[in-house]
Amino acid sequence: MNLDTSYLGLKLRNPLVASAGPMTQTAERVEHLAEAGVGAVVLPSLFEEQIRAEADRDERLAEVGIDSFGEAASYLIDPDATAWPRQYLDLIGRAAKSGVPVIASLNGSTHGGWTEYARAMQDAGAVAIELNIYYLPTDGSSFPSGRENEQRFVDILAAVKSVVSVPIAVKLTPYFSSFGDMALRLEQAGADGLVLFNRFMQTDIDPDTFTVSTGFKLSSPAEATVPRSWIARLRGRVRCSLAASTGVETADDVAAYLLAGADVVMTTSALLRHGPSHATALLDGLTAWMNRKGIGSVTEIRGLLAAGEDTSQAGFGRYGYLSAVQQASRAFSPR
Ligand SMILES: Cc1cc2nc3c(=O)[nH]c(=O)nc-3n(C[C@H](O)[C@H](O)[C@H](O)COP(=O)(O)O)c2cc1C
Repeated sequence: MNLDTSYLGLKLRNPLVASAGPMTQTAERVEHLAEAGVGAVVLPSLFEEQIRAEADRDERLAEVGIDSFGEAASYLIDPDATAWPRQYLDLIGRAAKSGVPVIASLNGSTHGGWTEYARAMQDAGAVAIELNIYYLPTDGSSFPSGRENEQRFVDILAAVKSVVSVPIAVKLTPYFSSFGDMALRLEQAGADGLVLFNRFMQTDIDPDTFTVSTGFKLSSPAEATVPRSWIARLRGRVRCSLAASTGVETADDVAAYLLAGADVVMTTSALLRHGPSHATALLDGLTAWMNRKGIGSVTEIRGLLAAGEDTSQAGFGRYGYLSAVQQASRAFSPR
């Protein structure tokens, strides 16, 4: 059984990747994931805001002068707030010792010097950078046009690209007026891969306490349909790598993403729910499924059920939508 895959030009032992999240936050956890068999890990994001906080700290220290460094550090600076960027570089180095390829994650949304941190990540041993451009077009005082919104993504990618030589994957949400066009633009701008999708912050309103809440809930497999159908549509239309992220709970979810055309399949929620050994269960399940279906390698099945250019194909095009509505109306018809 050959589970080898290629992602961002890197050779991986299998397509299962532990995506950014608490499970990859320490070298010890990465070590457990490596033992459980994952093909690669993505570290949690280093955020633009954290890089800025560190830069502000350095600036303030430079202002008070090196002679009073100790004193200044004790009253001017909250060490916890500024330590993460340096700890992050250390984490990359220590996680890499697990032997599993380590992808660093950089998360931001504006133009600025934070993008240069990608170089430090590369120098610390990251084999690739995952660039999570988490921009909320509701943040400013006016709403950007769709074109301005998209250009921001292209510009941030170009800025990161200009400082590193390792491959870059861009992690995205599907919320663009034409996601396929955005994917093509990012590929043209030099993206080596696309990660579909980042989950949006789940802001909600509690009518009991009159409060606005933000937070993350772990995902469910039902959420995989949107990223899966976009991967199926993009496979064959882009040359860059495609990573699936969201809703992987079982080996069948991994297999379905591979059939859609994913080069790698990522998981966070399932690892948090079941622990790092769940990676072994997913890989064993994938191998068992391949055996049952008489499949010898991941390459044989990748994109087998991709949409191709003919989106009129049932299941992907509007024709499929009409027959799905008709079937559902019959199935759920009130008695
Ligand atoms: C607690 C938690 C923390 C996360 N932190 C990050 C992060 O730092 N950077 C990032 O790009 N994605 C982060 N994610 C998103 C995951 O990497 C992943 O894209 C998302 O959870 C969907 O995958 P899943 O359905 O397997 O959970 C986080 C998710 C969770 C649940």
